[in-house]
Amino acid sequence: MVEKQLVDVILEAGILAPSADNSSPFLFDYVKDASRVSIFRDPERSGGFSDGKGYLVYTAIGAAIENMSRQAESMGVRLEISLFPKGEGKADSVAEILFVSPGDDEGSVVAPGGAASVKLLDSLKKRCTDRRFPYGKMPASFDLTRVQSAVDKTGCGFRYFGPNQSSEKNQMVRFVQSAEALRFTDPGIHAELFSSLSFSKESEEGIPLPALYLDPMGKLLIYAIRSWSFLNGMNRVGLNKALAFFGAGLPLRLSPAVGVITAPSLSPRDLVAAGRALQSAWLELNAQGVSVHPYASIGVMSGDFFQLPGRFGALQSKFKDAALSFFAQDRPIILFRLGDKKGDPVKSGRRKLSSFFSS
Ligand SMILES: Cc1cc2nc3c(=O)[nH]c(=O)nc-3n(C[C@H](O)[C@H](O)[C@H](O)COP(=O)(O)O)c2cc1C
Repeated sequence: MVEKQLVDVILEAGILAPSADNSSPFLFDYVKDASRVSIFRDPERSGGFSDGKGYLVYTAIGAAIENMSRQAESMGVRLEISLFPKGEGKADSVAEILFVSPGDDEGSVVAPGGAASVKLLDSLKKRCTDRRFPYGKMPASFDLTRVQSAVDKTGCGFRYFGPNQSSEKNQMVRFVQSAEALRFTDPGIHAELFSSLSFSKESEEGIPLPALYLDPMGKLLIYAIRSWSFLNGMNRVGLNKALAFFGAGLPLRLSPAVGVITAPSLSPRDLVAAGRALQSAWLELNAQGVSVHPYASIGVMSGDFFQLPGRFGALQSKFKDAALSFFAQDRPIILFRLGDKKGDPVKSGRRKLSSFFSS
């Protein structure tokens, strides 16, 4: 029997995982007793425009499951995870997790976490998004094989484009820049973006403005483009392209490397696996002193989730064809901007564990 107190330590590790817009769009429920927990989509924090077919919610749950598995292992607790126990794509139950202590057969109680678990929790807390730029060179000791083997375990892939693959890296920059430009052309995505930005510093969900590291001009712009009609009007003179250049093109060009998490398909199960993959890669990269800034637009715009209307729809199709032909049989899920940046960036908050329970 695993005590509720220990189950909660593992759930706390889960909510430290990253999610798009820091929405943590899932809920927990104890099934019968605390040693069986169900994870399902939070209807209030998911289903937005770019969450088509659960792209964002499944990757977030995958990342949370990755954290929980690592935390459990460090505490000597075994997790039996069944994905989609009510059928694939049924978001009312994305996963059911049984917490098993090694001594369950004899009815013994698992011991509270020791040094290994404290160390692990510390690394989960330290992982973060770093939107500062420019990044410096990749650390000399960077070991790509360790990142790749962490990702391989999830069934997904990690494509790395470093200083020696400049033409492919430039191709990635062009992909992300054009996907980001498209993001600013749709009122649905615009509403989603601004609902996630937290203009107050102390918020425990959403992205705090200081974490965007905007210069004074950028700050002015972000206030101006809160108005969709302003942005829409200015897009006629290419504001969306300028935003994509300064928000993605320039930082990516000034960074030494990028990495792309790929999945075999966009099925709900593979999206959960992609969430585990992105978190495994991120933890390994941060552990090696590599800073990470993710860009989801490559996955959102090339997925089969939605089609922009009109001339932007035609541009989206063109982008999608090019991206899918580059990645051949794999689907790009998310791109990481990579490099070395000293010091800790501004971090996002997290809601309290109690707010993840619906009742
Ligand atoms: C699936 C996914 C997509 C994300 N997309 C973006 C993105 O497009 N741009 C960005 O700046 N951050 C992106 N992020 C980073 C999140 O905003 C970040 O993880 C969240 O705010 C929590 O902050 P933390 O990573 O520092 O804990 C993404 C994260 C995930 C897991």
